[in-house]
Amino acid sequence: MDTAERTVIDPAHYREVMGHYPTGVAVVTGTVDGEPVGMVVGTFSSVSIDPPLVAFMPQVGSRTWDRLAGADALCVNVLAHDQLALCRTMAVSKPDKFDDVAWSPSATGAPVLADAVAHVHCRTASVMEAGDHWIVLCAVDAMEVTRPATPLLFFQGGYGGFSPTGMAARGDGDLIAAVRLGDRARTQVERLATSLGCEAAALVAVSPDELTTAVSAYGGTATMVEPLGQRIPLIPPIGEAYVAGAAPDVVERWLAKVTPHDPELVACYRKRLDTVAANGVALSMVGPGARADYDRMHDALAEYASGELTPARERAVRSVLAQTRHFFDDVEVLPDETYDVGAVVVPVHGPDGRVAMVLRATQLPTGVPGRVVTGWIDRVRTAARCVERDLATGGGADRASDYRAWYEADFPM
Ligand SMILES: Cc1cc2nc3c(=O)[nH]c(=O)nc-3n(C[C@H](O)[C@H](O)[C@H](O)COP(=O)(O)O)c2cc1C
Repeated sequence: MDTAERTVIDPAHYREVMGHYPTGVAVVTGTVDGEPVGMVVGTFSSVSIDPPLVAFMPQVGSRTWDRLAGADALCVNVLAHDQLALCRTMAVSKPDKFDDVAWSPSATGAPVLADAVAHVHCRTASVMEAGDHWIVLCAVDAMEVTRPATPLLFFQGGYGGFSPTGMAARGDGDLIAAVRLGDRARTQVERLATSLGCEAAALVAVSPDELTTAVSAYGGTATMVEPLGQRIPLIPPIGEAYVAGAAPDVVERWLAKVTPHDPELVACYRKRLDTVAANGVALSMVGPGARADYDRMHDALAEYASGELTPARERAVRSVLAQTRHFFDDVEVLPDETYDVGAVVVPVHGPDGRVAMVLRATQLPTGVPGRVVTGWIDRVRTAARCVERDLATGGGADRASDYRAWYEADFPM
């Protein structure tokens, strides 16, 4: 370009503006004179699908690129969120930086870094001069996702991770408030677990997108499957007992996540919320043949709780959850029929009339007659009313009437 026409941009201003655009972090590796060589680039980019081409941009004068340019084959290693130390090791200019790094040679001989998200095996097709950088265009020989984890990101001179917008922003501050609120239900949760022989828990919202297990207790043969503080996504049909009595914006936010987002399905969920709100309980059933589906749902919830979901895994988790819908169909409980109940969930309202938390009984005895199920529902409801009274009186609930309610529930006249 003619220098007379060139706009002058202050380099600091260029960096400041471009720093607002985040990049991934990759390590380009190759073998030169039998030695592994590598450099960190934030400029790795896809270029063409057909033919498959990628590119990255080494700085003119980069000593590492000067060596790497002599490699027959290259491997672009996309770093994962937990590979910051590796990034720092690879970003220095010294010859022995592979000494403490786990790697193996690719089929074409380039170093493949262990635990990277993806590997793109390529060779240099052309190198173009572009101001103070080179544009290195590479033809792709092979590529694979080795570890579907979230990537390491670089933004405004700092490192970070990726947090999908569909999932909640995670922070532990909300957890503390949730645990304090949930603690108000502790006595009732413990009694429920013992008297029903189940896992009982109080779940409290930590964001518009998540509940958390704030208190739990185990009775009968129930075992710990969901640790305290586990995050439970408000993704249909999960969380219906909480959403049914929540503010309209929470309801709409939940319905917006119905997968697939077809109006008839959304209408079904809306109807189910109405039924749950009217009955004051969400009952989910597990038929004898549906155990495997139920286990799949639990695995999906555990994967969600791990907090390291990529958008692709998030879509997979959502689709598994959407397939669990049949557990949540309305069922009329008949006294002499036999049931396998997945969960009994009852909302607890705060003094403002909004749902403050839900009480949930799971891991209940299976194959029980409907009249027993009805008894469980009554007990969870009674427990919820006790917690509501406690919340309404700021902790100074009428203990005697609580006790009487429990006595009557446990020993019906
Ligand atoms: C996040 C990050 C991104 C980088 N991106 C590039 C890049 O795209 N091009 C480049 O030439 N150097 C880039 N570098 C610098 C090189 O990784 C490395 O520091 C440099 O190659 C070492 O100096 P040398 O090449 O002179 O040996 C980046 C460094 C970091 C930490």
